[in-house]
Amino acid sequence: MTDSFTPVSLDTVCRVEFGPGRIGLLPELIADTGRHRAFVVTDRGLRAAGIAERVLKILDAAGVEYAVYDEVAPNPSTGNVDAGAARARAFGPAAVVALGGGSVLDAAKGISLLVGNPDAVAADADHLWEAADGLPLIAVPTTSGTGAETNGFGVIEDAAACRKVYIGHPSVKPRVALLDPELTLGLPPAATAATGIDALVHGIESLASRGADAFSMAYAGQAVAMIGRALPRAHRDGSDLDARAELMMGAHLAGQALTLSGLGLVHGIGHALTAHTGTPHGVALAAVLEEVMEFSAPAAQEAYEQTARALRVPPPADGDWARAAVAAVRELSGALDIKRPLRELGADRALLPAVAAGAVADAVTKNAPRLPREQEVLEILDAVL
Ligand SMILES: NC(=O)c1ccc[n+]([C@@H]2O[C@H](COP(=O)([O-])OP(=O)(O)OC[C@H]3O[C@@H](n4cnc5c(N)ncnc54)[C@H](O)[C@@H]3O)[C@@H](O)[C@H]2O)c1
Ligand SMILES: [Fe+2]
Repeated sequence: MTDSFTPVSLDTVCRVEFGPGRIGLLPELIADTGRHRAFVVTDRGLRAAGIAERVLKILDAAGVEYAVYDEVAPNPSTGNVDAGAARARAFGPAAVVALGGGSVLDAAKGISLLVGNPDAVAADADHLWEAADGLPLIAVPTTSGTGAETNGFGVIEDAAACRKVYIGHPSVKPRVALLDPELTLGLPPAATAATGIDALVHGIESLASRGADAFSMAYAGQAVAMIGRALPRAHRDGSDLDARAELMMGAHLAGQALTLSGLGLVHGIGHALTAHTGTPHGVALAAVLEEVMEFSAPAAQEAYEQTARALRVPPPADGDWARAAVAAVRELSGALDIKRPLRELGADRALLPAVAAGAVADAVTKNAPRLPREQEVLEILDAVL
Protein backbone atom coordinates (compact mmCIF):
# COMPACT_ATOMS: atom_id res chain seq x y z
CA MET A 1 0.00 0.00 0.00
CA THR A 2 1.15 3.52 -0.66
CA ASP A 3 0.61 7.03 0.68
CA SER A 4 0.38 10.25 -1.26
CA PHE A 5 4.07 11.08 -0.66
CA THR A 6 5.49 7.88 -2.17
CA PRO A 7 7.26 8.71 -5.44
CA VAL A 8 5.86 6.76 -8.41
CA SER A 9 6.64 6.61 -12.09
CA LEU A 10 4.56 5.27 -14.95
CA ASP A 11 6.45 4.15 -18.02
CA THR A 12 3.36 4.26 -20.12
CA VAL A 13 1.69 1.28 -21.62
CA CYS A 14 2.27 -0.26 -25.01
CA ARG A 15 -0.10 0.55 -27.85
CA VAL A 16 -3.47 -1.09 -27.24
CA GLU A 17 -5.99 -1.82 -30.00
CA PHE A 18 -9.22 -3.07 -28.52
CA GLY A 19 -12.54 -4.05 -30.07
CA PRO A 20 -14.42 -6.67 -32.07
CA GLY A 21 -12.86 -7.12 -35.52
CA ARG A 22 -9.62 -5.32 -34.58
CA ILE A 23 -7.62 -8.39 -35.67
CA GLY A 24 -7.93 -6.98 -39.21
CA LEU A 25 -5.28 -4.39 -38.23
CA LEU A 26 -2.60 -7.05 -37.85
CA PRO A 27 -0.78 -6.55 -41.21
CA GLU A 28 -0.40 -2.82 -40.66
CA LEU A 29 0.72 -3.36 -37.05
CA ILE A 30 3.42 -5.74 -38.30
CA ALA A 31 4.59 -3.14 -40.82
CA ASP A 32 4.69 -0.53 -38.03
CA THR A 33 7.38 -2.58 -36.25
CA GLY A 34 9.65 -2.02 -39.26
CA ARG A 35 9.57 -5.72 -40.14
CA HIS A 36 7.68 -7.10 -43.11
CA ARG A 37 7.64 -10.78 -42.20
CA ALA A 38 5.95 -12.48 -39.28
CA PHE A 39 6.93 -15.42 -37.10
CA VAL A 40 3.60 -16.60 -35.67
CA VAL A 41 3.71 -18.44 -32.35
CA THR A 42 0.55 -20.35 -31.43
CA ASP A 43 -0.62 -23.76 -30.18
CA ARG A 44 -2.59 -26.80 -31.33
CA GLY A 45 -5.74 -25.66 -29.51
CA LEU A 46 -5.82 -22.46 -31.53
CA ARG A 47 -5.36 -24.50 -34.70
CA ALA A 48 -8.22 -26.82 -33.72
CA ALA A 49 -10.49 -23.88 -32.87
CA GLY A 50 -9.89 -22.39 -36.35
CA ILE A 51 -8.53 -19.17 -34.87
CA ALA A 52 -5.00 -19.63 -36.21
CA GLU A 53 -6.40 -20.18 -39.71
CA ARG A 54 -8.58 -17.07 -39.47
CA VAL A 55 -5.55 -14.95 -38.59
CA LEU A 56 -3.23 -16.55 -41.15
CA LYS A 57 -5.83 -15.77 -43.84
CA ILE A 58 -5.60 -12.11 -42.91
CA LEU A 59 -1.81 -12.28 -43.39
CA ASP A 60 -2.23 -14.14 -46.71
CA ALA A 61 -4.68 -11.53 -47.97
CA ALA A 62 -2.22 -8.75 -47.14
CA GLY A 63 0.72 -10.61 -48.72
CA VAL A 64 2.68 -10.85 -45.47
CA GLU A 65 5.28 -13.63 -45.55
CA TYR A 66 5.15 -15.77 -42.40
CA ALA A 67 6.21 -18.98 -40.65
CA VAL A 68 4.26 -20.71 -37.88
CA TYR A 69 5.43 -22.45 -34.71
CA ASP A 70 2.33 -24.12 -33.22
CA GLU A 71 3.83 -26.52 -30.69
CA VAL A 72 3.58 -24.42 -27.52
CA ALA A 73 2.27 -26.60 -24.67
CA PRO A 74 0.08 -25.38 -21.79
CA ASN A 75 2.50 -24.19 -19.07
CA PRO A 76 5.28 -24.05 -21.66
CA SER A 77 8.67 -25.52 -20.88
CA THR A 78 12.21 -24.33 -21.52
CA GLY A 79 12.44 -27.09 -24.16
CA ASN A 80 9.42 -25.61 -25.90
CA VAL A 81 10.98 -22.16 -26.01
CA ASP A 82 14.30 -23.53 -27.29
CA ALA A 83 12.53 -25.46 -30.08
CA GLY A 84 10.54 -22.38 -31.12
CA ALA A 85 13.67 -20.23 -31.06
CA ALA A 86 15.52 -22.67 -33.33
CA ARG A 87 12.67 -22.39 -35.83
CA ALA A 88 12.58 -18.58 -35.58
CA ARG A 89 16.38 -18.26 -36.01
CA ALA A 90 16.10 -20.33 -39.19
CA PHE A 91 13.28 -18.10 -40.50
CA GLY A 92 15.31 -14.92 -40.00
CA PRO A 93 14.37 -11.28 -39.37
CA ALA A 94 10.69 -10.89 -38.52
CA ALA A 95 8.18 -9.54 -36.07
CA VAL A 96 6.90 -12.18 -33.66
CA VAL A 97 3.11 -12.49 -33.50
CA ALA A 98 1.97 -14.30 -30.35
CA LEU A 99 -1.52 -15.67 -30.98
CA GLY A 100 -2.98 -17.53 -28.01
CA GLY A 101 -3.39 -17.61 -24.27
CA GLY A 102 -0.77 -16.84 -21.66
CA SER A 103 1.17 -19.97 -22.52
CA VAL A 104 1.72 -18.80 -26.08
CA LEU A 105 2.41 -15.20 -25.09
CA ASP A 106 4.98 -16.28 -22.51
CA ALA A 107 6.69 -18.73 -24.86
CA ALA A 108 6.77 -16.10 -27.61
CA LYS A 109 8.60 -13.66 -25.33
CA GLY A 110 11.24 -16.29 -24.66
CA ILE A 111 11.52 -17.16 -28.36
CA SER A 112 11.83 -13.52 -29.33
CA LEU A 113 14.56 -12.94 -26.73
CA LEU A 114 16.56 -16.03 -27.69
CA VAL A 115 16.60 -14.99 -31.36
CA GLY A 116 18.35 -11.78 -30.31
CA ASN A 117 20.85 -13.83 -28.27
CA PRO A 118 21.98 -16.63 -30.56
CA ASP A 119 24.10 -18.48 -27.98
CA ALA A 120 21.50 -18.49 -25.22
CA VAL A 121 19.02 -21.19 -24.19
CA ALA A 122 15.84 -20.78 -22.16
CA ALA A 123 17.36 -22.30 -19.02
CA ASP A 124 19.67 -19.22 -18.91
CA ALA A 125 16.55 -17.17 -18.05
CA ASP A 126 18.00 -15.72 -14.84
CA HIS A 127 20.89 -14.16 -16.78
CA LEU A 128 19.01 -12.87 -19.81
CA TRP A 129 17.51 -9.76 -18.23
CA GLU A 130 20.57 -7.72 -19.30
CA ALA A 131 21.05 -9.45 -22.65
CA ALA A 132 20.67 -8.11 -26.19
CA ASP A 133 17.25 -7.11 -27.54
CA GLY A 134 14.77 -9.66 -28.82
CA LEU A 135 12.59 -9.44 -31.92
CA PRO A 136 9.65 -6.99 -31.79
CA LEU A 137 6.54 -8.69 -30.46
CA ILE A 138 2.83 -8.21 -31.14
CA ALA A 139 0.57 -9.92 -28.61
CA VAL A 140 -2.85 -11.20 -29.67
CA PRO A 141 -4.42 -12.82 -26.60
CA THR A 142 -7.19 -15.35 -27.18
CA THR A 143 -8.03 -15.86 -23.51
CA SER A 144 -9.14 -13.19 -21.04
CA GLY A 145 -6.85 -14.09 -18.21
CA THR A 146 -3.14 -13.67 -17.81
CA GLY A 147 -2.66 -10.09 -18.95
CA ALA A 148 0.64 -11.36 -20.31
CA GLU A 149 0.32 -8.84 -23.17
CA THR A 150 1.17 -6.07 -20.69
CA ASN A 151 4.65 -7.11 -19.61
CA GLY A 152 8.04 -8.23 -20.83
CA PHE A 153 8.43 -11.53 -19.00
CA GLY A 154 7.18 -15.07 -19.43
CA VAL A 155 6.62 -17.74 -16.81
CA ILE A 156 8.32 -20.87 -18.13
CA GLU A 157 8.60 -24.30 -16.61
CA ASP A 158 12.14 -25.58 -16.11
CA ALA A 159 11.18 -29.25 -15.97
CA ALA A 160 14.69 -30.34 -15.02
CA ALA A 161 14.66 -28.07 -11.95
CA CYS A 162 10.90 -28.54 -11.27
CA ARG A 163 10.40 -24.79 -10.91
CA LYS A 164 9.06 -21.84 -12.84
CA VAL A 165 11.63 -19.46 -14.29
CA TYR A 166 10.93 -15.89 -15.35
CA ILE A 167 12.34 -15.20 -18.80
CA GLY A 168 12.17 -11.57 -19.73
CA HIS A 169 13.67 -8.37 -21.05
CA PRO A 170 12.33 -4.84 -21.67
CA SER A 171 12.59 -5.42 -25.45
CA VAL A 172 10.09 -8.30 -25.41
CA LYS A 173 7.34 -6.34 -23.75
CA PRO A 174 4.80 -6.41 -26.61
CA ARG A 175 4.88 -3.32 -28.84
CA VAL A 176 1.16 -3.76 -29.38
CA ALA A 177 -1.59 -5.54 -27.49
CA LEU A 178 -4.22 -6.42 -30.07
CA LEU A 179 -7.34 -7.22 -28.06
CA ASP A 180 -10.17 -8.62 -30.17
CA PRO A 181 -12.89 -10.19 -28.02
CA GLU A 182 -14.29 -12.06 -31.04
CA LEU A 183 -11.25 -14.34 -30.78
CA THR A 184 -12.48 -15.50 -27.36
CA LEU A 185 -16.08 -16.37 -28.34
CA GLY A 186 -15.31 -20.08 -28.72
CA LEU A 187 -13.32 -20.53 -25.50
CA PRO A 188 -15.11 -23.39 -23.64
CA PRO A 189 -16.76 -22.63 -20.24
CA ALA A 190 -14.14 -24.43 -18.13
CA ALA A 191 -11.29 -22.54 -19.82
CA THR A 192 -13.27 -19.28 -19.56
CA ALA A 193 -13.61 -19.88 -15.83
CA ALA A 194 -9.96 -20.83 -15.26
CA THR A 195 -8.54 -17.92 -17.23
CA GLY A 196 -11.12 -15.47 -15.84
CA ILE A 197 -10.37 -16.37 -12.23
CA ASP A 198 -6.68 -15.79 -13.00
CA ALA A 199 -7.56 -12.25 -14.08
CA LEU A 200 -9.69 -11.72 -10.97
CA VAL A 201 -6.82 -12.85 -8.74
CA HIS A 202 -4.49 -10.45 -10.55
CA GLY A 203 -6.84 -7.63 -9.62
CA ILE A 204 -7.26 -8.71 -5.99
CA GLU A 205 -3.58 -9.49 -5.37
CA SER A 206 -2.57 -6.25 -7.05
CA LEU A 207 -4.85 -4.23 -4.73
CA ALA A 208 -3.32 -5.96 -1.69
CA SER A 209 0.29 -6.00 -2.94
CA ARG A 210 3.15 -4.29 -1.08
CA GLY A 211 4.08 -2.86 -4.48
CA ALA A 212 0.71 -1.16 -5.05
CA ASP A 213 0.67 2.50 -6.03
CA ALA A 214 -2.00 4.93 -7.19
CA PHE A 215 -1.76 3.77 -10.81
CA SER A 216 -1.89 0.05 -10.10
CA MET A 217 -4.81 0.54 -7.73
CA ALA A 218 -6.76 2.49 -10.32
CA TYR A 219 -6.25 -0.27 -12.86
CA ALA A 220 -6.93 -3.05 -10.36
CA GLY A 221 -10.12 -1.56 -8.93
CA GLN A 222 -11.65 -1.14 -12.38
CA ALA A 223 -10.42 -4.59 -13.38
CA VAL A 224 -12.10 -6.33 -10.43
CA ALA A 225 -15.35 -4.48 -11.14
CA MET A 226 -15.38 -5.45 -14.83
CA ILE A 227 -14.30 -9.05 -14.27
CA GLY A 228 -16.77 -9.54 -11.41
CA ARG A 229 -19.62 -8.39 -13.63
CA ALA A 230 -18.62 -10.07 -16.89
CA LEU A 231 -17.05 -13.39 -15.88
CA PRO A 232 -20.24 -15.19 -14.76
CA ARG A 233 -22.02 -14.00 -17.92
CA ALA A 234 -19.23 -15.09 -20.26
CA HIS A 235 -19.08 -18.43 -18.46
CA ARG A 236 -22.86 -18.98 -18.80
CA ASP A 237 -23.05 -17.90 -22.42
CA GLY A 238 -19.75 -17.89 -24.30
CA SER A 239 -21.35 -16.25 -27.33
CA ASP A 240 -22.24 -13.08 -25.38
CA LEU A 241 -19.92 -10.62 -27.12
CA ASP A 242 -20.65 -7.83 -24.61
CA ALA A 243 -19.57 -10.03 -21.72
CA ARG A 244 -16.53 -11.29 -23.65
CA ALA A 245 -15.49 -7.71 -24.43
CA GLU A 246 -15.87 -6.51 -20.84
CA LEU A 247 -13.99 -9.53 -19.55
CA MET A 248 -11.17 -9.00 -22.03
CA MET A 249 -10.73 -5.37 -21.07
CA GLY A 250 -10.96 -6.28 -17.38
CA ALA A 251 -8.26 -8.93 -17.76
CA HIS A 252 -6.05 -6.47 -19.64
CA LEU A 253 -6.43 -3.83 -16.91
CA ALA A 254 -5.64 -6.46 -14.29
CA GLY A 255 -2.48 -7.24 -16.26
CA GLN A 256 -1.53 -3.55 -16.28
CA ALA A 257 -2.10 -3.52 -12.53
CA LEU A 258 -0.01 -6.58 -11.71
CA THR A 259 2.81 -5.41 -13.95
CA LEU A 260 3.08 -2.27 -11.82
CA SER A 261 2.44 -3.76 -8.38
CA GLY A 262 3.46 -7.42 -8.38
CA LEU A 263 1.24 -10.20 -7.03
CA GLY A 264 1.26 -12.32 -3.87
CA LEU A 265 0.85 -15.66 -2.16
CA VAL A 266 -2.06 -16.99 -4.24
CA HIS A 267 0.27 -16.91 -7.24
CA GLY A 268 3.21 -18.22 -5.21
CA ILE A 269 1.20 -21.30 -4.26
CA GLY A 270 -0.38 -21.53 -7.71
CA HIS A 271 2.99 -21.66 -9.48
CA ALA A 272 4.30 -24.34 -7.13
CA LEU A 273 1.13 -26.43 -7.46
CA THR A 274 1.29 -26.27 -11.23
CA ALA A 275 4.99 -27.15 -11.26
CA HIS A 276 4.32 -30.27 -9.18
CA THR A 277 0.93 -31.41 -10.55
CA GLY A 278 0.47 -29.82 -13.97
CA THR A 279 -2.78 -28.17 -12.82
CA PRO A 280 -3.89 -25.32 -15.13
CA HIS A 281 -2.84 -21.95 -13.72
CA GLY A 282 -6.32 -20.60 -12.93
CA VAL A 283 -7.52 -23.85 -11.36
CA ALA A 284 -4.46 -23.90 -9.09
CA LEU A 285 -5.19 -20.32 -7.98
CA ALA A 286 -8.87 -21.06 -7.32
CA ALA A 287 -7.92 -23.98 -5.06
CA VAL A 288 -6.43 -21.64 -2.43
CA LEU A 289 -7.84 -18.18 -3.19
CA GLU A 290 -10.31 -17.70 -0.30
CA GLU A 291 -8.00 -19.38 2.20
CA VAL A 292 -5.08 -17.13 1.29
CA MET A 293 -7.37 -14.09 1.50
CA GLU A 294 -8.41 -15.16 5.01
CA PHE A 295 -4.77 -15.58 6.00
CA SER A 296 -3.85 -12.19 4.51
CA ALA A 297 -6.87 -10.27 5.82
CA PRO A 298 -5.17 -8.78 8.92
CA ALA A 299 -2.72 -7.00 6.61
CA ALA A 300 -5.11 -6.26 3.74
CA GLN A 301 -8.21 -4.66 5.25
CA GLU A 302 -8.31 -1.69 2.91
CA ALA A 303 -7.55 -3.76 -0.20
CA TYR A 304 -10.31 -6.22 0.61
CA GLU A 305 -12.77 -3.42 1.26
CA GLN A 306 -11.93 -2.13 -2.23
CA THR A 307 -12.35 -5.65 -3.58
CA ALA A 308 -15.76 -6.03 -1.96
CA ARG A 309 -16.92 -2.61 -3.15
CA ALA A 310 -15.72 -3.37 -6.71
CA LEU A 311 -17.72 -6.61 -6.55
CA ARG A 312 -20.76 -4.52 -5.53
CA VAL A 313 -21.10 -6.13 -2.10
CA PRO A 314 -23.46 -4.09 0.13
CA PRO A 315 -21.86 -2.69 3.32
CA PRO A 316 -21.71 -5.57 5.81
CA ALA A 317 -23.71 -5.07 9.03
CA ASP A 318 -20.69 -6.00 11.17
CA GLY A 319 -18.36 -3.74 9.18
CA ASP A 320 -16.11 -6.68 8.31
CA TRP A 321 -15.35 -5.90 4.68
CA ALA A 322 -12.61 -8.51 4.43
CA ARG A 323 -15.00 -11.28 5.35
CA ALA A 324 -17.55 -9.86 2.90
CA ALA A 325 -14.92 -9.87 0.14
CA VAL A 326 -14.03 -13.50 0.84
CA ALA A 327 -17.73 -14.46 0.78
CA ALA A 328 -18.24 -12.67 -2.55
CA VAL A 329 -15.22 -14.42 -4.05
CA ARG A 330 -16.48 -17.76 -2.73
CA GLU A 331 -19.85 -17.17 -4.38
CA LEU A 332 -18.25 -16.24 -7.71
CA SER A 333 -15.94 -19.24 -7.61
CA GLY A 334 -18.95 -21.46 -6.79
CA ALA A 335 -20.89 -20.11 -9.79
CA LEU A 336 -17.93 -21.02 -12.00
CA ASP A 337 -17.62 -24.48 -10.39
CA ILE A 338 -13.86 -24.16 -10.40
CA LYS A 339 -12.69 -24.89 -6.86
CA ARG A 340 -11.27 -28.38 -6.32
CA PRO A 341 -9.59 -30.03 -3.33
CA LEU A 342 -5.87 -30.52 -3.90
CA ARG A 343 -6.29 -34.30 -3.93
CA GLU A 344 -8.41 -33.97 -7.07
CA LEU A 345 -5.58 -32.00 -8.64
CA GLY A 346 -3.07 -34.78 -8.11
CA ALA A 347 -1.56 -33.67 -4.79
CA ASP A 348 -1.29 -35.73 -1.62
CA ARG A 349 -0.07 -34.88 1.88
CA ALA A 350 3.50 -35.97 1.10
CA LEU A 351 3.71 -33.36 -1.67
CA LEU A 352 2.60 -30.40 0.45
CA PRO A 353 6.00 -29.49 2.01
CA ALA A 354 7.55 -29.15 -1.45
CA VAL A 355 4.64 -26.98 -2.62
CA ALA A 356 4.92 -24.81 0.51
CA ALA A 357 8.67 -24.41 0.05
CA GLY A 358 8.22 -23.52 -3.62
CA ALA A 359 5.54 -20.96 -2.76
CA VAL A 360 7.68 -19.20 -0.17
CA ALA A 361 10.70 -19.14 -2.49
CA ASP A 362 8.74 -17.77 -5.49
CA ALA A 363 9.55 -14.12 -6.26
CA VAL A 364 5.84 -13.20 -6.49
CA THR A 365 5.29 -14.06 -2.83
CA LYS A 366 7.56 -11.21 -1.72
CA ASN A 367 4.78 -8.73 -2.48
CA ALA A 368 2.20 -10.50 -0.30
CA PRO A 369 0.66 -8.17 2.28
CA ARG A 370 1.31 -10.73 5.03
CA LEU A 371 4.57 -12.57 4.42
CA PRO A 372 4.05 -16.27 5.14
CA ARG A 373 6.35 -18.75 6.83
CA GLU A 374 6.58 -22.17 5.24
CA GLN A 375 4.63 -23.71 8.12
CA GLU A 376 1.77 -21.24 7.59
CA VAL A 377 1.57 -22.11 3.89
CA LEU A 378 1.54 -25.76 4.83
CA GLU A 379 -1.47 -25.12 7.07
CA ILE A 380 -3.30 -23.36 4.24
CA LEU A 381 -2.57 -26.28 1.91
CA ASP A 382 -3.61 -28.80 4.50
CA ALA A 383 -6.96 -27.06 4.91
CA VAL A 384 -7.78 -27.47 1.21
CA LEU A 385 -6.32 -30.95 0.70
N1 LIG B 1 3.38 -13.31 -18.15
C1 LIG B 1 2.43 -13.09 -17.28
O1 LIG B 1 2.23 -11.96 -16.85
C2 LIG B 1 1.57 -14.22 -16.80
C3 LIG B 1 0.60 -13.97 -15.83
C4 LIG B 1 -0.21 -15.04 -15.42
C5 LIG B 1 -0.07 -16.30 -15.99
N2 LIG B 1 0.88 -16.54 -16.92
C6 LIG B 1 1.06 -17.87 -17.55
O2 LIG B 1 0.08 -18.08 -18.55
C7 LIG B 1 -0.17 -19.47 -18.71
C8 LIG B 1 -1.67 -19.77 -18.73
O3 LIG B 1 -2.29 -19.09 -19.80
P1 LIG B 1 -3.86 -19.20 -20.08
O4 LIG B 1 -4.54 -19.31 -18.79
O5 LIG B 1 -4.23 -18.07 -20.99
O6 LIG B 1 -4.05 -20.61 -20.81
P2 LIG B 1 -3.29 -21.31 -22.02
O7 LIG B 1 -2.58 -20.31 -22.85
O8 LIG B 1 -2.48 -22.43 -21.47
O9 LIG B 1 -4.51 -21.90 -22.87
C9 LIG B 1 -5.31 -22.94 -22.35
C10 LIG B 1 -5.94 -23.73 -23.50
O10 LIG B 1 -6.95 -22.95 -24.13
C11 LIG B 1 -6.81 -23.02 -25.56
N3 LIG B 1 -7.32 -21.76 -26.10
C12 LIG B 1 -6.77 -20.54 -25.94
N4 LIG B 1 -7.56 -19.62 -26.51
C13 LIG B 1 -8.61 -20.26 -27.06
C14 LIG B 1 -9.77 -19.84 -27.77
N5 LIG B 1 -10.02 -18.56 -28.00
N6 LIG B 1 -10.64 -20.80 -28.18
C15 LIG B 1 -10.45 -22.10 -27.89
N7 LIG B 1 -9.37 -22.57 -27.22
C16 LIG B 1 -8.46 -21.65 -26.80
C17 LIG B 1 -5.33 -23.26 -25.78
O11 LIG B 1 -5.12 -23.90 -27.02
C18 LIG B 1 -4.95 -24.14 -24.60
O12 LIG B 1 -5.15 -25.48 -24.93
C19 LIG B 1 0.56 -20.16 -17.58
O13 LIG B 1 1.74 -20.73 -18.10
C20 LIG B 1 0.88 -19.02 -16.61
O14 LIG B 1 2.04 -19.29 -15.85
C21 LIG B 1 1.69 -15.50 -17.34
FE1 LIG C 1 -1.87 -15.38 -13.08
